[in-house]
Amino acid sequence: MDWAAASTTLFSVVLFSIVTVVAAKLLKAKNKFNNHVYTRPLPPVVNVLALIPPLLNKSLQATIQDLYTKFGSVFTINFLGPKVTLLIGPEVSAHFFQGLDSEISWGNLLEFTIPMYGQEVGYGVDTATRNEHSNFIIQALQPSKLRSHVDPIFQEVEAYFAKWGQDGTVDLKHELEQVLMLTSSRCLLADVVRHQMILTEIYSLLHELENGANIISFLFPYIPTPTNRRRDKAHIKLKEIFSAAVRSRSQAQEDALQRLIDSKYKDGRPTTIAEISGMMIILISTSRHTSSHTSIWTGARLLSNTKFLKAAVEEQKHIICKYGNQIDHHALSEMDTLHNCIKEALRMHPAGPVLFRKAHKTFNVHTKEGNEYDIPGGHNVIIPTVFNSKLPYIYKDPRVYDPDRFSPGRQEDKVGGKFSYTSFGGGRHICPGMAFAYLQIKLIWSHLLRNFELELMSSFPKADWSKITPAPKGKVMISYKRRQLH
Ligand code: HEM
Repeated sequence: MDWAAASTTLFSVVLFSIVTVVAAKLLKAKNKFNNHVYTRPLPPVVNVLALIPPLLNKSLQATIQDLYTKFGSVFTINFLGPKVTLLIGPEVSAHFFQGLDSEISWGNLLEFTIPMYGQEVGYGVDTATRNEHSNFIIQALQPSKLRSHVDPIFQEVEAYFAKWGQDGTVDLKHELEQVLMLTSSRCLLADVVRHQMILTEIYSLLHELENGANIISFLFPYIPTPTNRRRDKAHIKLKEIFSAAVRSRSQAQEDALQRLIDSKYKDGRPTTIAEISGMMIILISTSRHTSSHTSIWTGARLLSNTKFLKAAVEEQKHIICKYGNQIDHHALSEMDTLHNCIKEALRMHPAGPVLFRKAHKTFNVHTKEGNEYDIPGGHNVIIPTVFNSKLPYIYKDPRVYDPDRFSPGRQEDKVGGKFSYTSFGGGRHICPGMAFAYLQIKLIWSHLLRNFELELMSSFPKADWSKITPAPKGKVMISYKRRQLH
């Protein structure tokens, strides 16, 4: 078995284990849906045991492809009791993304995050409070508020790459992780970023915290394993750092932390320090891998594709002619080619390859093949974005990197309706950090394209499927040579 096959098999086994564990956890809950009378047929069912041989021999994606070919866009996997239903394609995705939380939500699947983020936020609080917190986060990251971040991010990016020499070889993965740590902290926690030691400490504590996102902690979030103990210590320390940052603010800053401090509940109540700290932990932890992996995939794809690399450089030349070397939000909004290059990298390498929900009530779907099904309340529901983003009836030659597919006239991300492109999710829980992610990645890549000739030295990276957000595996070595575009 070659390395690619081994890694996809590993992913299959990991995912298979996760889904089994999820299913086992759900089995603990009493099934209150058994006596329901359905008005439509239920989806075709495949027994999980029948999937073990194919999963051992081929990738998860190939196995899903076989099931899709056999059963169509909706089918259920029976995990010896608990059921997991897959929804493939935009036609059957609406309820998953738009349904009320009382009808379909993460349910108890995210309970294990309570010790990571705290009792005061996320799944530690009731749905109404959680929705108010989501709203605070959406407001804090609104595109109009992000305009004030363009300059600070630009300065961070310039200062970081000023340390590179005239020419050299670097690991793009390491470099982009470092620069993104600085840019996102500058916008989320403006004053803390100036203290390099605190910043380094925050990121190493986050690492301990995220180690708590493993199968054992998922099943038993509170047992005193060494990992859980380190997670709890990291949580306490992070809370102390953020609480101190809130208390020590003598004057308002232009950052997300300030916006969370200034947020008010519908009844006029202010946010507490513990809630603000919890929301900051959520923001930094959800943003760091997604944005860095997307920027690395964008680089790897661009540097392997002469046509689009040239187009992205030409676009920068054009924008320099119009706006000069300074970048503001007008200049950024005209970087359509770069935007599409990032969007396409994310289509091919979604940071959330599989999205999960639990159906609390029965809902129905109409498939593209003309079938209608009831999806029973109690089922786990999965949208495999990694598969859906490569459906050939939506995306022409889906395995080809083609950022032009999003250009006016083609707009393949719209041909199947609003859930054709779900790399940032969709509907009720669409990623509130999307504009922020694009802002940072565009500023970094426009700087690199303007100031350096770049070449990919490593072979094109494989995906590391052992991570929740599949990262490019190993180092991604590039060579650079300074240049000045004009
Ligand atoms: C390229 C970068 C990013 C990608 C690909 C991405 C992807 C996603 C996806 C797919 C979801 C929906 C998950 C679901 O429906 O199950 C999501 C939700 C979320 N994202 Fe992002 N994300 C990115 C960057 C960010 C950033 C920069 C932040 C914050 C600073 C952020 C904060 C969040 C939060 C808080 C949620 C939960 C929303 C909710 O519960 O309603 N993300 N993200």
